[in-house]
Amino acid sequence: MRPMRSSTFGATARCVAVALALTLAAAACSDDGDGAAGEPTTKPPAREATTTTRATSGGTGPPSSTSTSDPPRATTTGPGTEPGAPGGMGTAGVGDEYFPELGNGGYDVAHYDLDLAYDPETDVLEGAVTIEASATDDLRRFNLDLLGMDVKLISVDGRRAEFRRNGGELVITPSAPIETGEEFAVVVEYEGVPEPSVIPGIEGDNGWLTTPEGSLTLNQPDGARTWLPSNDHPSDKASFTIRITAPDDLVAVASGVLVSSEPDPDDDTTTWVWEARDQMATYLLQVAIGDFVIEEETGPGGLALRHVFSRSVADDARAPASATSEHLRVLGEAFGPYPFETYGILVPIGAPPGLALETQTLSLIPPGTVDAEPILVHELAHQWFGDDVSPARWRDIWLNEGFATYAEWIWEESQGQSIDSIARRNHDLLAESASDVVVSDPGLDALFGFEIYVRGAMTLHALRVEVGDDPFFEILQTWVAEFGGGSATTDDFVRLAERVSGEDLGDLFHAWLDETDLPPLPR
Ligand code: TRP
Ligand code: ZN
Repeated sequence: MRPMRSSTFGATARCVAVALALTLAAAACSDDGDGAAGEPTTKPPAREATTTTRATSGGTGPPSSTSTSDPPRATTTGPGTEPGAPGGMGTAGVGDEYFPELGNGGYDVAHYDLDLAYDPETDVLEGAVTIEASATDDLRRFNLDLLGMDVKLISVDGRRAEFRRNGGELVITPSAPIETGEEFAVVVEYEGVPEPSVIPGIEGDNGWLTTPEGSLTLNQPDGARTWLPSNDHPSDKASFTIRITAPDDLVAVASGVLVSSEPDPDDDTTTWVWEARDQMATYLLQVAIGDFVIEEETGPGGLALRHVFSRSVADDARAPASATSEHLRVLGEAFGPYPFETYGILVPIGAPPGLALETQTLSLIPPGTVDAEPILVHELAHQWFGDDVSPARWRDIWLNEGFATYAEWIWEESQGQSIDSIARRNHDLLAESASDVVVSDPGLDALFGFEIYVRGAMTLHALRVEVGDDPFFEILQTWVAEFGGGSATTDDFVRLAERVSGEDLGDLFHAWLDETDLPPLPR
């Protein structure tokens, strides 16, 4: 049993911290004597890596892609398929019932090019963002999401465009209409002090956050729009180039791979360029500035790892971070190949305590949490579940949190605990909590609640017990292979699980996901 330090979650009462703390308590504190760490009693079964081939162009992915400009691997289902409003006005949302204004209809973003300059003295962020998109509808006008900030200039295909602000909507009228299928480039020049928003159900600031050294971003679910004009919904993923200018004595990092860092000869700044080539949802983009050290390492299969630590906590973070290769090996065996070009953890001082976030290729881990191995495993697991396969609607969030929580259990199992006793402990916790949250439709307040994490994970365990280990892991690997790079719904998962297993699983999923009564412990 690994002792839990009470400082791990700080004094925060945020419910994510609570959910993770409970998960940790149940997953990590074996109290029944079986499977002490270091004395493996059970191991996940060896599995063949035959189901991990990704859908490629002409491949076998589901035929539901609505993406015209993204690589063919991207498969988007769900609200992004809604037609634009009549008259070529795009739409002010993608039809997400939890966040009606998030995302926009009528186009599909292929690439974001961010040119950012941040001054930690004044907190002023200056941005010039180029959005390459293709129209999925005739557009006389279209929207981006942006909350706050001063917009100075917008152009579409090099011509100045008219715009107006309406709450979180930036309504843009290009000088000439855009036709369905046409590719276009929007440039938005803006500046200001980003004002974080409050995350529903979490009560913490969300967006571009200042730290004692610089800044970081927490964008899930709707914080990106407080500092980045974007199609701020996971049903429209894209690749990103992130260029950040910051004071010379600081380091600027972002999701993706470092391309260059060039000191500006005219002033005391340096410009850092990061390239994130894999499809990414806006909520998963990390951009952080601080007194960082970047430490590189080679992971399993030659994967390039780079960890980023605030200098003052680097000595504490280095040892926990060095377990990443082993985490990658165990999760890779369970879920198939790691989906992106790089990975690492970002441990910046000033991150909100207790709140880790699975920012793509660079998970954010607060310094006080870096010792909590299940959380490191949890955020890594999100790279497959949440990041590579993203929720098509926010109500499908259990596809992220339930899966990442189950990954913690798989990790504990690989360390010798019995999955049955882990499941039993967590089932006891669920029985005690007697809540009326429905996993498939938790509502905003319970979006990141305990049930999403633990009952979500238990749903996967019930599936595993029902279909058996080999079909279960084949389901998970097929899920990533088919929907990786895009986004998907709960129904997509249920259909895929039934297809792969050949079983009718409607009742099982219904009992776990759509009801409040707690089904018996799967065994
Ligand atoms: N997805 C986070 C996790 O790993 C929890 C979370 C949701 C979060 N929204 C957040 C963390 C905003 C930080 C900020 O469980
Ligand atoms: Zn999570």
